[in-house]
Amino acid sequence: MEIVILRTPADVARTAADAIEQQVLSGPSVLGLATGSTPLGTYRELIQRHRNGGLSFAGAQAFLLDEYVGLPGTHPQSYHSVIRREFVDSVDFPAGTVHGLDGVAEDLDAEAARYEAAIAASGGVDIQILGIGSDGHVGFNEPMSSLASRTRIKTLTQQTRQDNARFFTDHAAVPDHVLTQGLGTILEARHLLLLAMGEAKAGAVAAAVEGPVAALCPASALQLHPHVTVLVDEAAASMLAHRAYYQDTFGRKPAWQGL
Ligand code: GLP
Repeated sequence: MEIVILRTPADVARTAADAIEQQVLSGPSVLGLATGSTPLGTYRELIQRHRNGGLSFAGAQAFLLDEYVGLPGTHPQSYHSVIRREFVDSVDFPAGTVHGLDGVAEDLDAEAARYEAAIAASGGVDIQILGIGSDGHVGFNEPMSSLASRTRIKTLTQQTRQDNARFFTDHAAVPDHVLTQGLGTILEARHLLLLAMGEAKAGAVAAAVEGPVAALCPASALQLHPHVTVLVDEAAASMLAHRAYYQDTFGRKPAWQGL
């Protein structure tokens, strides 16, 4: 796990965009996209590079991490809609190559199995963007999610429903249930890029990075993965005990190694 402490949220967005750009330039790529507010700066940066620098996603495809149960793809807060609005519609993925879960599927278990098979058939995710919930969730894997879990239905904690109420008319409008890639699914992506900004994420980041691997903090499962980059701004890094160590080693890392 490599912890990269950057000065501002804009630095986090630029560095994340660099990693994604490098992946896309390396050849046909499968990207893992996250929703929530954390990756929005990264998406804006990539859109700008597409418009001004010619960065193309024509050879890429993408899979979303999760979706609300009960919201059709046309609902403005469904993650299908959010990712189109915030990123996909502004770049050049070929039609039909950005995949998501169907939150209104009649058989949710079958939908989860279909999604697992689609990810596997794509050859697997090359680089997965992740945010982190204030309770340590990744995707929508809430505390006590099995570290080996696959795509499935989950019930949101009240904390997450409260955190996400800002996107809905009120707390009651936030769905109780979601479909999410499991921790076992996420851990199969070849490179995980966890982004966190702001003081509100500092506790979750410290638990995920420096705490024990435990289902109580789902993001701690990332410690089991061979290639994880954690990009945090100074506020999100503020509760890490070993900040100086991370900064020293990253500062002396050979440039050719990249992220
Ligand atoms: C959301 C998403 C996650 C996201 C997390 C943090 O509900 N399901 O993928 O990383 O919770 O959200 P935010 O980035 O808005 O803080």
